[in-house]
Amino acid sequence: MDNRQAAVATTVVVLGTGGTIAGRAQCRDDHTGYTAGQIGVQALLHGIPVPTGHHVEHEQVAQIDSKDMGPAVWRPLLARVQHHLQRPDVAGLVVTHGTDTLEETAYLLQRVLCPAKPVVLTCAMRPATALAPDGPQNLADALLVAAHPGARGVVVVCAGRAHRADAVQKIHPYRLDAFSSGDAGPLGQVEQGRLTLWRAWPAAAEVAGFNGNPWPSPQHQHDELLPRLLAAEGWHRVETIVSHAGADGALVRALLAYAGPGVAPLRGLVVAGTGNGTLHQDVLAALRQAQAQGVVVWRTTRCAEGRVVPGDAPEQDGIPAIALPLAQARLALQLALLHGDALGAAKVAG
Ligand code: SIN
Repeated sequence: MDNRQAAVATTVVVLGTGGTIAGRAQCRDDHTGYTAGQIGVQALLHGIPVPTGHHVEHEQVAQIDSKDMGPAVWRPLLARVQHHLQRPDVAGLVVTHGTDTLEETAYLLQRVLCPAKPVVLTCAMRPATALAPDGPQNLADALLVAAHPGARGVVVVCAGRAHRADAVQKIHPYRLDAFSSGDAGPLGQVEQGRLTLWRAWPAAAEVAGFNGNPWPSPQHQHDELLPRLLAAEGWHRVETIVSHAGADGALVRALLAYAGPGVAPLRGLVVAGTGNGTLHQDVLAALRQAQAQGVVVWRTTRCAEGRVVPGDAPEQDGIPAIALPLAQARLALQLALLHGDALGAAKVAG
């Protein structure tokens, strides 16, 4: 963004997708028996302070409980975020979203759009109708971060803390401060209308690569991945499983056998291993069978914190480790498969 653009970029666009932040309960003290995705984004913005020198636009992209998030909403969301990012008058975006799959949407937006402006996802743990809802403060904080000079990349703002998309995980089903960035720690903190940064803003090249290899360049990702993701048929079937005491390979074999009209074949599998990504021997045998049938298999850890620490041979047992939480790792594999398709297409075209 040049200085001329910066001088006129005073709009913050708020895109609504639903979630508890837009939830409605029958009783004001009911924090669990409510329906998510009921109240429009325009109403959520009512009375929320607008950062000085800025004005706010809003748009309802979806109205769902984010447990149901997936390509059907991600496609229009990617398209609308990309559209608004390209507007010179837009300083940044805020996306209101359910907490349950927030980390997946955040990771997807960061990896695919690599935005040079801030895209701030925010949420709530209590419905909008609660006696003391947390959504209004989170939304105010998110607007502040979106309007912050120098802000860039996809960031999650919840309970006064800002998190990067590659580290953030929902770690608690009920408490207001439900997100953690684990060992990495939060990007920063919003207190009394002021942002204090602890870490650098995400830059596209910084998002965790795979086995130490950088991802393809942001421009390449954007140009190749975005059109494929916007097409309904661009998404491959990538599943996740967890290795555990008493596990066998039955789940993997069932996934391999699952077929039928309209059923996309399994293309990728991310396994959350025990401890440092170790796998039950029976699960490992079934995963080898999957690999032999062309399924790409990656491993991560089922531990709540930390990432698999690769030894001298990062592809231990022939299954490479990825330094991402399970939810982000599944999307990373989805994108890697799409990237592989693009390389294949380029070869055919060449
Ligand atoms: C949702 O993810 O949409 C419901 C739960 C929440 O937002 O906290």
